[in-house]
Amino acid sequence: MPVKNRFAELLPEITGWRRDFHAHPELLFDVHRTAGRVAELCRSFGCDEVVEGIGRTGVVAVIKGRSDSKGRVIGLRADMDALPIKEQTGVPYASTVPGKMHACGHDGHTAMLLGAAKYLAETRNFDGTVVCIFQPAEEGGGGGREMVKDGMLSRWNVQEVYGMHNMPGIPVGHFAIRPGPMMAAADQFEIVVTGKGGHAAKPHDCVDTTVVSAHIIVALQTIASRNVDPLKQVVVSVCTVETDSTAHNVIPQVVKLKGTVRTMEPKVQDQVQERVCQIAEGTALALGAHAEVHYQRGYPVTVNAPENTAFAAEVARNVSGHVDTDTAPLMGAEDFSFMLNERPGAYIFLGNGDTAMVHHPAYNFDDSAIPFGSSWYAEMAETRMPAA
Ligand code: NI
Repeated sequence: MPVKNRFAELLPEITGWRRDFHAHPELLFDVHRTAGRVAELCRSFGCDEVVEGIGRTGVVAVIKGRSDSKGRVIGLRADMDALPIKEQTGVPYASTVPGKMHACGHDGHTAMLLGAAKYLAETRNFDGTVVCIFQPAEEGGGGGREMVKDGMLSRWNVQEVYGMHNMPGIPVGHFAIRPGPMMAAADQFEIVVTGKGGHAAKPHDCVDTTVVSAHIIVALQTIASRNVDPLKQVVVSVCTVETDSTAHNVIPQVVKLKGTVRTMEPKVQDQVQERVCQIAEGTALALGAHAEVHYQRGYPVTVNAPENTAFAAEVARNVSGHVDTDTAPLMGAEDFSFMLNERPGAYIFLGNGDTAMVHHPAYNFDDSAIPFGSSWYAEMAETRMPAA
C-alpha cells in the first residue's frame, strides 16, 4: 500500500494551496484568511460538516464514511499559523506580508490535510467518521488548548487524535516517531531583580543588580549540572537580560531576566521550577538585593500513546517503506500535546530533506513531501476504520 496514486494526480492542486498559504502568512489566532480558505475548500470537497471559529479561529471539517456502524471517530490535525520572521527564501511565492513567514511548514501541514480531506470525501472508503482539525496559534498561542477548551473533542466524540510535523534533516518520504515523550514541556520564567541604582563610580552606595543577575544566571546552570538526574533531559536557558539603564555609568535599579525551561517529565518539571525560584531568590538575598520570580507553565510534554504510535508507524511504513520508530525526542514543544493529554494518539515527523531548520528565514516546506503526508493522513483513517 504505497503512496496513493490519487495524490500524485492531486499534487499540483495541493501544491497550489500550499504556495497560496505560503504567500499569505498569518500569525497566532489571526489566521482569518487561511481559516476562511480552509473552510471554503472543505465545503467544496463535500465534507459533511464544516465549522469555523472553534478555539477562536480553528476549523473543523467532518467526513462520514460509507457507514458508521461501529461509531468510530478519529481526529487528524494540522496547524495553520506562521511566524514573525522576515523571509529569505527567494522563492516566487514568497511571503507578501513583511515580517511574517511560514517558516515552520504549517502551510504544508494544512495543505496536506486538505488533500487528505478531498480524497476521503470523494472516496469514503472507511467505516466511521474523520474529524479534520485545523488549528490556529501553534507558535506560542496555545490554539490547540483553545480548541480543546472549546469542547471540540467531546462535541464530535473524537476518540483518537493524530498529528504530523515536517522535519528538516530527515529524507523526504521518510517518517520518524517514538512511543512516549516525543517533545518537551516548555515553561517560561521572568526574574525581576531589584537593588539600588546609582552612580557607577559609587558602587558602595548601590546594590548592583547587574552583578546580582550575573550570579543568578551562572547559578541557574547548576540546575541541569548538579540538581537534575543526569539521565533525565532538561534545559534551562536565560535568553534576555534587560535593565532600566542605557548608560555606561549608571548602575540599574532593576534587571529583568527572561528564559525558558524544557523538561520531559512532570517530576523534573516540578524540581526545576522549585530550583529556579530558590536560586534566584536566595542568590539575590545573599547579595543584598531582592528577586521576584514569575514562573509560567506552557505547553505540556507531547506524549505518544504506545499502541497508537505502533499503528501510526505501521501506516507510515506502508506509505513510504521508511519509518524510524525510535527517533530521539526533541526539546522543542508542540501544543498538539493538549489534544494528546485528552485522547490517545500519536504525533509523527515527516522528512523535509536537507533544508534549513524550521524557524530559519531560509526554511521552506518541500512540496515533494505532500504525497507522503496526505497519504499518511488518509491511510490512517482507512486503516483504522476499514470499510466493512
Ligand atoms: Ni511547527
